[in-house]
Amino acid sequence: MQPTSPARPLAPKAERHRRVLADLCAVLEGEPDRVARMATVACLLSQAFPEWLWTGFYVVDPLRERELVVGPYQGTLGCLRIAFDRGVCGACARTGRTQRVADVHAFPGHIACDSRSRSEIVVPVRDADDLLWAVLDVDSAVPGAFDDDDQAGLEALVATLFAGGGGASVGP
Ligand code: SME
Repeated sequence: MQPTSPARPLAPKAERHRRVLADLCAVLEGEPDRVARMATVACLLSQAFPEWLWTGFYVVDPLRERELVVGPYQGTLGCLRIAFDRGVCGACARTGRTQRVADVHAFPGHIACDSRSRSEIVVPVRDADDLLWAVLDVDSAVPGAFDDDDQAGLEALVATLFAGGGGASVGP
């Protein structure tokens, strides 16, 4: 039997964030559809960060007041809807600010879609007119998994791909 080759070590996080953004800019060039853009972001981010548990979007539902509905994601089953007054995603939508939660069990109202989740980061997604239309949610099974590099990387990603880089005019 052939010996199995050791897994390739992962590059430092800041470098992976830079690479995944460069890849996404190339892949999404000329694609205006928001669903296509969100799905591609969820896919490439989860491949670049295999240590993450859940990576995806909750979109502001234009038909219901202050409520998010699940968008494209990678991971185990996510809850379908989150009111603005619930959970880490709701806090992000309500405040318009990134939420970085080192211990989800200490966050009042945290919604445990996957019982393995221990830490979470949620980044607001705005359009070119600065209106919030979604949040990008990432969960980890490791406490305190998200650091300044992750926050900077994910904030740069949504600013580049959804506010500055197109995808603002069609979709949900
Ligand atoms: N934990 C989130 C809910 C979404 S899932 O993690 C996919 C929250 O508290 O808002």
